[in-house]
Amino acid sequence: MTKPFVRPATIDDMAQVQAIYAHHVMNGSGSFEIEPPDLAEMQRRLAEVQKRNLPFLVAETEGRVAGYAYANLYRTREAYRFTCEDSVYIDPACHKRGLGHALLEALIVDAGARGFKQMVAVIGGSDNSGSIRLHEKHGFARVGLLPKVGFKFDRWHDSVLMQKSL
Ligand SMILES: CC(C)(COP(=O)(O)OP(=O)(O)OC[C@H]1O[C@@H](n2cnc3c(N)ncnc32)[C@H](O)[C@@H]1OP(=O)(O)O)[C@@H](O)C(=O)NCCC(=O)NCCS
Repeated sequence: MTKPFVRPATIDDMAQVQAIYAHHVMNGSGSFEIEPPDLAEMQRRLAEVQKRNLPFLVAETEGRVAGYAYANLYRTREAYRFTCEDSVYIDPACHKRGLGHALLEALIVDAGARGFKQMVAVIGGSDNSGSIRLHEKHGFARVGLLPKVGFKFDRWHDSVLMQKSL
């Protein structure tokens, strides 16, 4: 497989981004959403991230968008303004091929260059070894665990908190 090409997302990418995210919302506990947001909502989220001067990136492989990552404010109150939270989602057909690595690496550099100082990952599920491993590899430290804060697919899910200084 060719090396993924990582670039800023545009509004035209949002249909593919919406499809990738919808899969994970419906099939996994990485996201605590239960109903997949529609295209208009994903376009609104892109605009919000861009307006806040944060990065929203896509990874293209074999000529199509196969994953995306973005950072948004960790919390919106003013004193949190240098702290962002990352999200990374990969097309299930392209897992374990380095797309997560390429996207998270680029996101960290981009958010740091924009003046953000801390990046927090709020990982859905203690059993989400892919996301935990990915963040460990990029220097995130495990800083907390919120047990049983999500209820999805008829069971409780933890949030694993990880953090990296940018
Ligand atoms: C987590 C996720 C983003 C990883 O993306 P990916 O492109 O498959 O990851 P990569 O191929 O770049 O691999 C990253 C590292 O994680 C490891 N990894 C990936 N999936 C794994 C899994 N299911 N179990 C254990 N380790 C896994 C890889 O081996 C690699 O580590 P290594 O360099 O030591 O080999 C992807 O599985 C995904 O979209 N998951 C569902 C959504 C989600 O939970 N997103 C995170 C929200 S914060």
